Amino acid sequence: MNFKDFINPGIESIQPYEPGRSLDEVIQEFNLSKVIKLASNENSLGASKKALEIVQSAKDLHYYPDGSGEALKKVISEHENIAKEQIILGNGSNEVLELAAAAFLNSETEAIFSEHAFVVYKLASKVRGCKFHEVPAKNFGHDLDSFKNYINDSTRVIFIANPNNPTGTYNTHAQVHNLLSSIPDHVLVVLDLAYFEYVEAEDYVKPYELLNEFNNLLLTRSFSKAYGLPALRIGFGVGHPELIEILNRIRQPFNVNTIAQKAAIAAIEDQAHIKQSIENNSMQKQYLQSELTRLGLTSLESQGNFIAVKVPIPGRDMFNKLMKEGVIVRPIDLYGMPDYIRVTIGAPAENKFFIQILEKVLN
Ligand SMILES: Cc1ncc(COP(=O)(O)O)c(C=O)c1O
Repeated sequence: MNFKDFINPGIESIQPYEPGRSLDEVIQEFNLSKVIKLASNENSLGASKKALEIVQSAKDLHYYPDGSGEALKKVISEHENIAKEQIILGNGSNEVLELAAAAFLNSETEAIFSEHAFVVYKLASKVRGCKFHEVPAKNFGHDLDSFKNYINDSTRVIFIANPNNPTGTYNTHAQVHNLLSSIPDHVLVVLDLAYFEYVEAEDYVKPYELLNEFNNLLLTRSFSKAYGLPALRIGFGVGHPELIEILNRIRQPFNVNTIAQKAAIAAIEDQAHIKQSIENNSMQKQYLQSELTRLGLTSLESQGNFIAVKVPIPGRDMFNKLMKEGVIVRPIDLYGMPDYIRVTIGAPAENKFFIQILEKVLN
C-alpha cells in the first residue's frame, strides 16, 4: 500500500482539464509563421487599455492584496446595483463554482447538471465524491423542466450554465424561474453567467429579479470573457448575504491578487470597450454563421462568443488539421459532441483566416 491507494473517492476517474493549446506551443511544434487562437473563448479585442495601464504600472507588490476586495466590490455593487454584502470575489468565476461545491457537496449529497454542460460542474462534484446526475439535453440545451425529476432529499446543488459552454445554448427567464419556483429550498441553484454580457436573446434571464425572489440562488460572473482579463483570474459571485457569508468562510484569505482587483475596476469603468467587444461579437457571429452555411456546415445558434460547428470528420481530426494550418480551435468530444468543434468568435481578420483555412481543409 502507498499513498496512491488512498486517493479520495471520486478522483480516480478524473482526467486533468484539457486547456486550449497555446500560440507559442503551436508555432514551435508546426514551425508556422502565422497562428491564431480561437480555442478558449477569449475576447479577441483584448483587455481594456485602461486595465492594461493598471497592469503596466503595478507597484507595492510586497503587500498582500486587500483580502476582502472592498474597492472592487464597491464598484461592482454600483455597476450592478446590488449590495456589497451580496458579492464574493473569486480567482476566476471558476473559484466561486468550486466554493459552492466545497460548501454543499460531499459523499452523502447529490448534484444535478445537464449533459454537454461546462465540465467544471462534473469535476467539482467528482472531487467531493458526491453522486451527480447529467440530465439528457434537449436540442443540445439544458432541459430545465426535467431537472425536477432528479431532485430528492440529498440534492444540494443544481448547476446551470446560461449560456452554456460549449453549446452556446441558453435558458429563458421563464424556464429558470419555473425551476426555482418548483424546487425545495434545500437545493441551491448556481446560475453560471460567464458569457452574460454577450447574450442577445430578449427572453434571457434577468438575474437580479430572480435574486430578489429566491434566496437559494448563486449567480457567478466572470472578468475572463467580455472583460478580457482571463490571465488575471478574477470573477465574482452574487447571492443572499447569508449564502455569501458561508462561502467566505472557506475562501482563501487572499484569493484575488491586487493587480486583478485594480484592473477589474478599470475594466468596469471602461464600458465603451465592453460595448465595442459585444458589437464585434454580434457582427462577427453573423459573418461566421453565414460563411459556415456557405460551406455547407451546420452550427448551433450561440448566445456566447463561440460557436459549436458540426464537421464532416471527427471533431478531433478537424482540430488537428486546422492546427497544422495555423488555426487553434477546440475539439469537444469530451463534452459528448465528437462530431463538433468549438470556435471562438474572433476579430474580423481572425474569422476570415479561420474560414479560409476551414475551406481549404474541407476540400
Ligand atoms: C460556462 C463557464 N463558466 C465558467 C467559466 C470559468 O471562467 P473563469 O474562471 O475564467 O471566470 C468558463 C470558462 O471558460 C465557462 O465557459
